[in-house]
Amino acid sequence: MVVREITAEAASNIALIKYWGATDLASALPVNPSISMTLSRCRSRCSATFHEGESGEDEILLLPERGGQLETAPREFREPIAAHLTRLRTAFERPGRFRIATHNTFPAAAGIASSASGFTALTLAASRALGEPLDAEQLSQWSRRSGSGSAARSAFGGWVEWPRGPGEGEAHAFQLAGEDDWQVSDLVTIVASDAKKVSSREGHRRAPTSPYFPQRQAQLPRRLEVVRRAIAERDFSAMAETVEEESIDLHLIAMSSNPAIFYWRPTTLAVLERVRELRRDGLPVCSTMDAGPNVHVLCLPEVEQQVLPELEAIEGVERVLSDRTGGAPVWREGAEL
Ligand code: DP6
Repeated sequence: MVVREITAEAASNIALIKYWGATDLASALPVNPSISMTLSRCRSRCSATFHEGESGEDEILLLPERGGQLETAPREFREPIAAHLTRLRTAFERPGRFRIATHNTFPAAAGIASSASGFTALTLAASRALGEPLDAEQLSQWSRRSGSGSAARSAFGGWVEWPRGPGEGEAHAFQLAGEDDWQVSDLVTIVASDAKKVSSREGHRRAPTSPYFPQRQAQLPRRLEVVRRAIAERDFSAMAETVEEESIDLHLIAMSSNPAIFYWRPTTLAVLERVRELRRDGLPVCSTMDAGPNVHVLCLPEVEQQVLPELEAIEGVERVLSDRTGGAPVWREGAEL
């Protein structure tokens, strides 16, 4: 019986133009294009062992973020992974059983969404273990089909655009610029590290109920153009205001959805205000947020040491993780976990 073991690693990403609202939630087809920066430190590692031809349930294990022993993942974590494994196995017509072990290298309790990096690492490890190598575009498509749309962008390093459409089969992201072309720092400012109360998936579902949803869509062609050009010209100041405006709008849509979703905490607002002051003082810095209370503070690497203590000094900030533009997913033979 053939047994193949692969370990893959992929990084999370932070969107500058957000995916918020889907035309098809199950396979994550977005209402609008999005643009992101792939991170470096916030990574997921996944080992996949495929026992070809064997029957039985897949084994899905998790190495806790704080370290220690591998343990069986909780059901809500296992189910979408098992569904994704079945999707891959069925598509490639490879009957067999998987053992999956995953670990996030994110510092403990960072409160950062790990599904983008997690599903990209899983898709890469599992497809290789099936003996089905995917190129980056195929990895993007298959990672997206997990239902975590942002995983489409983690298939590439550097600066990435995920366009709208075309069809279910083809929709995938592509690289706008590499990580060596332009380095930007991301100071992930943690104000709350508990799990968010409303998932992104539920946020996408509610987004069109906001009366402001069409208004945000109308703004997007201009914003996309501003961000694309800033990336092409490595011009941080050209995109700072637009990136911030776009993130505030995502939360405006969430807060005005029916039922409303409030991700912000009082400290979130304090961080957003401080970042605006720092920019008014002349620093190349701006904020952006995922569907949660923490703030990603983007800045040029040369001012990182100036910005970091300012964020740490804000009352209510738990910690600040320093990350930056990172590379594409990688894989190697063997099950390391
Ligand atoms: C606000 O459906 O990709 O981060 O599966 O939880 O990672 P997860 O969410 P997903 O939606 C991402 C929403 C967002 C914006 C973005 O990353 O584009």
